[in-house]
Amino acid sequence: MINPKIEKALNEQVEKETYSSHLYLAMASWAETEGLKGVAEWMYAQADEERIHQLKFIKYINERGGKAKISAIKTPPVSFKSVKVVFAEVYKHEQYITASINDLVALCVAEKDYTTNNWLQWFVTEQIEEEASVSDIIDRLKIMGDHNLYMFDRDIMVMRAAAAAANAQGA
Ligand code: FEO
Repeated sequence: MINPKIEKALNEQVEKETYSSHLYLAMASWAETEGLKGVAEWMYAQADEERIHQLKFIKYINERGGKAKISAIKTPPVSFKSVKVVFAEVYKHEQYITASINDLVALCVAEKDYTTNNWLQWFVTEQIEEEASVSDIIDRLKIMGDHNLYMFDRDIMVMRAAAAAANAQGA
């Protein structure tokens, strides 16, 4: 049976992962209306990944004898100032999620829940990848500049397609 403190913290993470998915969905929709097809595709795929994270937490809580909570989620912004601002926000948000996962690990150690700690390691590794991929995009944006948004958008599209192909091969 899962420790109630851990269950509560994991349920808070369900909410954070759900908000991540909503936030990236809002960014995808905004990018689509701006004609930024590559950015929109990247964000839609990212929103799907966050939904997978959300489900992983829900299923783990239930599997361990707890009860996953599905709560109301705050509304993300509808529009954004620029692509640069959008990716800076994604980066900041992912750093926040990394800190949250680290806090969960620390709580598991304090509560001697080594099973959940072990399970959380997948997320620890995933966060390295998530931060690295956004940081790479921010670098590309710096190099190409705001004046070359079309090229940047195409680049992101190619990057996402290559990642999807690599994932499909690994599956
Ligand atoms: Fe689920 Fe992007 O962290």
